[in-house]
Amino acid sequence: MHRLGVNIDHVATIRQARLGSYPDPVFAAMIAEQAGADNITLHIREDRRHTQERDLEVMKKTINIKLNLEMAATEELKEMALKYLPDSCTLVPEKRAELTTEGGLDLLHPANSFLKKYCKDLKDSGIEVSLFIDADKNQIEKALELEVDAIEINSGRYSEAKNKKEAEHFAKIIEEASKFAVSKGLKTHIGHGINYENAKRLVEIDEIDEFNIGHSIVSRALFTGFEAAVRDMIKIISE
Ligand code: PXP
Repeated sequence: MHRLGVNIDHVATIRQARLGSYPDPVFAAMIAEQAGADNITLHIREDRRHTQERDLEVMKKTINIKLNLEMAATEELKEMALKYLPDSCTLVPEKRAELTTEGGLDLLHPANSFLKKYCKDLKDSGIEVSLFIDADKNQIEKALELEVDAIEINSGRYSEAKNKKEAEHFAKIIEEASKFAVSKGLKTHIGHGINYENAKRLVEIDEIDEFNIGHSIVSRALFTGFEAAVRDMIKIISE
């Protein structure tokens, strides 16, 4: 059975457009919980373009399902994670000018050798650690060395495929990577650009434990309401 993580960043994007108090992503998180989501993800970015520290603080006090903080591996955000203790942290690369996360972490890059200690500090505080990486065996092996709990496979290339053939090509790569990761004992999550149509092929991959989906759910919620948008996605991923 696949689990659904709802990313509420884009509710905060609308709030930040006017720097006001609504719509409140905390309210969206509560509705997602009520609709049956398994976890809530928020990405606190360096430029604070959507979710804010206050959102993490209030969600930690109000949400009963798993809370996942997506963040770049900076000292500032590690301190924030250790202060509020979300259930899990998903580490992502972050570029200031990007529209959204563009690719997975390169765990093999020497500049990322600090991650071993970084992940250990989070894990020692009881936080599960997941690394957002591309569907690549070398990256998965490196994640194993870092002794993290999970990986989140970047589905960006799959979701941006130009046609069915290309999508199937990337789906197979994701499938193979998921099987490899699970055979090595890593929980496997997936996220980035997943919508109500392209989720269907990924749902066939039993090894994927958790789908993390934001933009398509928040977009649909404009027309159906948030609860129905979450329920519609749960229906697809549990089929
Ligand atoms: N997972 C990760 C690591 C992400 O960076 C994002 C985008 O914030 C998502 C999942 C959700 O992606 P989308 O909003 O495209 O569904």
